[in-house]
Amino acid sequence: MDEISTLCSRVGETKLRSMVAAFYRRVKVDDLIGIMYPADDWEGSEKRLADFIVYRFGGPQTYIEERGHPRLRGRHMPFSIGEAERDRWMKLMGEAMQEVEVHESEAPVIDSFFAQVADMMRNRGE
Ligand code: HEM
Repeated sequence: MDEISTLCSRVGETKLRSMVAAFYRRVKVDDLIGIMYPADDWEGSEKRLADFIVYRFGGPQTYIEERGHPRLRGRHMPFSIGEAERDRWMKLMGEAMQEVEVHESEAPVIDSFFAQVADMMRNRGE
């Protein structure tokens, strides 16, 4: 098993969900990426990201059962994502990780996973 798929048991599902909640508290009031999210479904958005992270980090497979194959790049195509949007996503998630105090032994692993995925989501020629 790789390092990513043991994260859920190491960090704990509760803390991962708190981290996503802290992220969404910031996204909701963000002027650059906040406006991309469906304003009438904040709860659903938060659940989709939390379920995805829990699944990808080796926890329960709820995301796959409810959403199927992640196809993350395709699912982000409706939104214009360049370096600025990627960096904002990473900044807000970094603050969320600090708020819930993800342990320093796990934070760099999580951070580089997010950085890799966030960079893959860029779909705007710059
Ligand atoms: C690079 C900057 C990013 C932007 C601007 C962005 C924006 C969005 C938006 C607007 C949505 C639709 C919200 C909804 O589900 O209702 C979404 C969905 C989603 N995003 Fe991102 N995202 C970014 C990066 C990431 C990263 C790094 C991950 C994973 C680590 C991620 C995982 C997801 C997932 C799992 C969904 C729900 C997909 C589904 O099942 O429909 N996103 N994102």
